Amino acid sequence: MKYTIAVIPGDGIGPEVTNQAKKALDAVAEIYDHVFLYKEAQIGACAIEATGNPLPEETIKICKKADAILYGAIGDPKYSDPSLRIRPEQGLLNLRQELDLFCNINPVRAYDQLIKNSPLRREIIKGTDIVIFRELTGGIYYGKKEISKDGLSAFDVCSYNVAQISRITHLAFKAAQGRRNKVTLIDKSNVLETSRLWRKTVTEISKEYKNVELEHLYADNAAMKLILNPKNFDVILTENFIGDIISDEASVISGSIGLLASSSIGNENALFAPVHGTFPEAKGKDIANPLASILSAALMLDHLGLHEEANAIERAVEKSLDLNITTVDIKGKNKYAAPTSKVGDFIADYILNQQDSNLNFRNIHAGQSTII
Ligand code: IPM
Ligand code: MN
Repeated sequence: MKYTIAVIPGDGIGPEVTNQAKKALDAVAEIYDHVFLYKEAQIGACAIEATGNPLPEETIKICKKADAILYGAIGDPKYSDPSLRIRPEQGLLNLRQELDLFCNINPVRAYDQLIKNSPLRREIIKGTDIVIFRELTGGIYYGKKEISKDGLSAFDVCSYNVAQISRITHLAFKAAQGRRNKVTLIDKSNVLETSRLWRKTVTEISKEYKNVELEHLYADNAAMKLILNPKNFDVILTENFIGDIISDEASVISGSIGLLASSSIGNENALFAPVHGTFPEAKGKDIANPLASILSAALMLDHLGLHEEANAIERAVEKSLDLNITTVDIKGKNKYAAPTSKVGDFIADYILNQQDSNLNFRNIHAGQSTII
């Protein structure tokens, strides 16, 4: 089959990790006889520099036409001045809204090989398997915002309606039915009116899913429980801002944020991305972990119905962890850290050659060529 993939690598390490995901996809294309046609487009700081706009029209057009979107990261420290009117992040926020990518799905599981990297104790995190459903196009991110003329006060409005809450709630409950039949709604309904609307709407909808248990937690309590007892959670359902925070917190459980990938889906389009950001200190150094981006390509294949192909990428990633062909952030003690590009080469080669991989692992560890 032929698929058009919009590739928007963005800023920082975005381009270098996205390149490794493309290597994995090229290997999949070769083995499974598909064609992935990449359409590159700009977003974020690089787009501001090139066009003055963090989300050029051309990028929206390319994304709308594609079968799926592969995204890297956006942001640049030089845009951190709060008085700036144009910022790289607006590129992503506007793209989510333009394409109505309302549902962010963020799977978090503790990889056995990486448990030692987590600051949390093995017995607490081993076996954790959570998926976070974060609403992505509403709430405080998109409400009216203003700073007063004298610069002494500001506001951001948080609003939600039943339709926005319902559509993601159904997706979360359906996902729970294919998992361990539990949904935890995280809100702040002891304080916020929008949270009370979430709680009422979700409770009502939960009656349609009789085999799924619905748990309610306040966000502050949930933040604590997530670290104390992550195995309490199966599907987490939450609104935009709380979901942003909870997602980063949950990444600690996996042993490395460098392995977390997420999908952002709408009715017409879907975007796949690493959870990590631009990591400006690592930009251009060939040291960033490409696995999250590679795994986001696997999520993309799953979304396109290419399950066997997605599985081939996942198995290659597991193998790279087993063999310690990993970047500096997750290497074990005294082990060689592979450059970003070599991890990508290994993954692609393993997909192509599977068990018969003719890779010379010793050469990889010496940082030399990857193929005998
Ligand atoms: C994320 C990011 C974005 C967000 C930023 C870059 C606007 O942190 O995808 O979680 O806050 O949603
Ligand atoms: Mn975030």
